[in-house]
Amino acid sequence: MKRIKLWDKEFEIAINNSDIQLAVKRMAGEMKTDLEGKETLFICILNGAFMFASELMKELELPDAEISFLKLSSYSGANSTGEIKELIGLNEVITGRTVVILEDIVDSGLTIKEVLNQLLDKGAREVKIATLLFKPQALKVDINLDYVGLEIPNDFIVGFGLDYDRRGRNYKDIYSLVTE
Ligand code: IMP
Ligand code: MG
Repeated sequence: MKRIKLWDKEFEIAINNSDIQLAVKRMAGEMKTDLEGKETLFICILNGAFMFASELMKELELPDAEISFLKLSSYSGANSTGEIKELIGLNEVITGRTVVILEDIVDSGLTIKEVLNQLLDKGAREVKIATLLFKPQALKVDINLDYVGLEIPNDFIVGFGLDYDRRGRNYKDIYSLVTE
């Protein structure tokens, strides 16, 4: 089984690129049906979703689609769920728009819920969530995920945009942490 080493940790292959591509193509098809004619703004959450967003946008046949990118500040103040993250780099007008958030993975769901709430606060007409990966066993918030690529176990993974301490984002397959 193919393995990689990042820093001090070993990872073994968990999801092949061909399976990722199939999931992405299916998601693109679902989005085309839902979003035709809606002048949708797709927002890629950096850094992790860059590869997912790139593959998805190549598969999406929507002539009125636009894409933008945002980053979350690591910390700024606190709220009941923990911390409020600031959305950085979003210059587009959100008011009245259909927005689709592109995320690499939903784990506890706190990050995506925060982004969703902030986009609704900015006046989005509707906000849909698309995540390549979803760990259902880790979910801590009540949230509706509109497009899910693959459901995965509650293991730590890297590759296809996801990192372990900044490394591993560049791999085309997804690897999970070896814990023995
Ligand atoms: P959440 O707020 O707990 O849902 O976490 C979401 C963020 O945590 C993702 O956007 C990832 O950046 C990171 N994350 C969660 N699980 C993993 C993982 O297994 N590997 C790498 N990053 C992860
Ligand atoms: Mg992320």
